[in-house]
Amino acid sequence: MISSVGIIGGGQMAEALVRGFLKKDLFSPQRILISDPLNERRQYLEEFYSVRTTNKNTEVIENEAVIILAVKPQVMEKVLQEIREKIDPSTHLLITIAAGLPLSLYEKRLPQGTRILRVMPNTCALVLKSISAISKGTYASERDVEIGSYLFGAIGKVIVMEEKYLDAVTALSGSGPAYVALFVEALIDGGVRCGLPRNLAETLAIATIEGTVALMEETGKNPYEIKTMVTSPGGTTINALNVLYQKGLPGIIMEAIYCAFKRAQELSSEQE
Ligand SMILES: NC(=O)c1ccc[n+]([C@@H]2O[C@H](COP(=O)([O-])OP(=O)(O)OC[C@H]3O[C@@H](n4cnc5c(N)ncnc54)[C@H](OP(=O)(O)O)[C@@H]3O)[C@@H](O)[C@H]2O)c1
Repeated sequence: MISSVGIIGGGQMAEALVRGFLKKDLFSPQRILISDPLNERRQYLEEFYSVRTTNKNTEVIENEAVIILAVKPQVMEKVLQEIREKIDPSTHLLITIAAGLPLSLYEKRLPQGTRILRVMPNTCALVLKSISAISKGTYASERDVEIGSYLFGAIGKVIVMEEKYLDAVTALSGSGPAYVALFVEALIDGGVRCGLPRNLAETLAIATIEGTVALMEETGKNPYEIKTMVTSPGGTTINALNVLYQKGLPGIIMEAIYCAFKRAQELSSEQE
């Protein structure tokens, strides 16, 4: 598909991507060029992954056609100023993973016609289990989207969608690992309240989450069907579910996701 890639910003997400690329054999390490300001970080990436590194972002643009922008949103403006002169819209494809920055921001600051993809991965990328939403900018082609899907497929699943959905994606799968972690924590505490030692409760809670996800994936059953499978008449599960419905858990979760969505919208509009 492509024979090399550049990454600007050699932090956590860049490292997750590199691990994915190498594990899936997308590139040999020497075909990956990463820029980062910190000497120790570059040295670590070179020694641990055998990738090439540089302290100059412009060197990545000069040497690579496909470049992933993996810096924090607050330094993106500075990076764009630095690289804009070197961008050739007929050569370069830029892929940004910065949370909350709209495609229009890049299109305003980079040369007319620059091809850009915006990708919203999540923290599960660190274990190559991300779900990444990909949206294309005005000038990006279907082939560019294929390249984005190829690259981000190395760290998990990929869904292509219009940019208008990305604030909702941020609220659901972007923030989602925190909601799931909170739910697991509550399961563990519930087990402890019933007298289980904490380490046993942890093992049971995590395995239950893993097993339930596998059950949905492997049987194709939806959440309602899984719930019905476990709920015998007059049994323990229906009694627990009765409490969860009475206390409003489904509504609380929906409202929480909606609040995250509204906040994502506010943050995106501040960046226009
Ligand atoms: N982590 C996630 O779960 C996640 C999920 C979705 C999206 N994202 C997005 O992914 C992007 C990267 O996140 P991250 O968690 O990987 O952050 P990170 O670990 O802080 O990585 C950013 C890297 O960029 C480097 N950097 C700073 N200024 C730079 C510059 N001017 N030129 C080149 N590199 C520079 C940083 O170096 P220093 O440390 O020396 O400053 C750091 O190594 C962010 O925009 C974030 O919104 C992250």
